[in-house]
Amino acid sequence: MSYSMPELIRTKRDGGELTADELRWMIAEYTADRIPDYQLSAFLMAVMFRGMSGNELAAWTDAMLHSGDVLDLSATDMPKVDKHSTGGVGDKISIPLAPLVVACGVAVPMMSGRGLGHTGGTLDKLETIPGFRTRLDPDEFARQLDAIGLVLGGQSETLVPADRRIYALRDASGTVPSIPLISSSIMSKKLAEDLDGLVLDVKIGSGAFMKDIASGTELARTMVGIGASHDTPVVGLLTDMDQPLGREVGNANEMVESIATLRGEGPADVTELTMRLGEEMLILAGVATDATDARVRLEAAVSSGAGLDVFARVIEAQGGDPRVLDDRSLLPVAANRHVVVADRAGFVERCDALSVGRAAVRLGAGRQAKEDDIDPAVGITVHAKVGDTVESGTPLATVRYNTDDQLASCLGVLETAWDLTDEPQEPQPLILGEVR
Ligand code: URA
Repeated sequence: MSYSMPELIRTKRDGGELTADELRWMIAEYTADRIPDYQLSAFLMAVMFRGMSGNELAAWTDAMLHSGDVLDLSATDMPKVDKHSTGGVGDKISIPLAPLVVACGVAVPMMSGRGLGHTGGTLDKLETIPGFRTRLDPDEFARQLDAIGLVLGGQSETLVPADRRIYALRDASGTVPSIPLISSSIMSKKLAEDLDGLVLDVKIGSGAFMKDIASGTELARTMVGIGASHDTPVVGLLTDMDQPLGREVGNANEMVESIATLRGEGPADVTELTMRLGEEMLILAGVATDATDARVRLEAAVSSGAGLDVFARVIEAQGGDPRVLDDRSLLPVAANRHVVVADRAGFVERCDALSVGRAAVRLGAGRQAKEDDIDPAVGITVHAKVGDTVESGTPLATVRYNTDDQLASCLGVLETAWDLTDEPQEPQPLILGEVR
């Protein structure tokens, strides 16, 4: 069956609903280069303004998901659950979380992304480990999942090719911030992992895609709905991204903090979010009866070192040097340090995630365009967060940098990240809501 693209664009423009066949045709034709970019961009812009119905979203996501290979991970006996974060600053949670969950008897076929803009990416952080490979072919991916229960890899070229093409087009056509387009993009990739369940960490605040609880809740509800239409249970936690997560921002810095968290020595917010997301994963997988049971299991995986052992096996299997777990000097470190200090005494009212994330990009820790290189060794350690008390001269952050130009550029934004006040401030809550 063939359709007229101008007619489908007009239908969506005027608020009509497209059929599943029309949407499947559009994805298949676009992926096969038979629909030009200008027509698909016009359609995506119409979706930005008109949205998609539940039926449209289910069909669109399903068509994206089947635009390439879908993993067959049926050789793994364990239940398979993954976590996806919508992205933020200092968000290294996947690295401690996945090994702990695996140590509790759940398989995690995790496919992560790279940092883009002010948000960091798990692949860049993993690649700070000398030798660590994040490109695995589908056979190796399935074998490692079966053997260890955990793979920490990137998305293969053959998985959901429609999303790669459409995401690039959205980036160039001002159509990224659309809840149906974001939801279908994320969910098509996650559903291609052949999962039994998915936990979403929907970030809310200055450093996140979603700036307020209402839009974060809508995004989470939309993704939970797509999961239901594919018989995959999805749970979403809404979590704070007004300030950076943890103390470390930048790739090697975040690897150090991730390893500390696996050892039970991480900062309170990173540890708490790891535990909360882990609880949901264990419950979805059916290996824990409730949150209390799940927490006991996860804490045991920290204190026994079982989570760290899983991570060591994955590092070895993916070509990395597991001695980084005990020897921080094997990770890259930038040559120079600069300390940013408070210019007055007071209470921290704001420690802005977006400013810290942008400052890290200017240092070289992140990339503005997909093809940019990053510097794994540079980063920012945040010493003062909302609710903390500082004196004049108290360190707010330590910057590790490689060139003076990058430091100057970074400080131009970093120094605007903090607001200090005379009024005592409550620490910000970390978990803002949940959607099931
Ligand atoms: N992450 C994705 O994978 N897709 C989007 O559209 C936005 C964030």
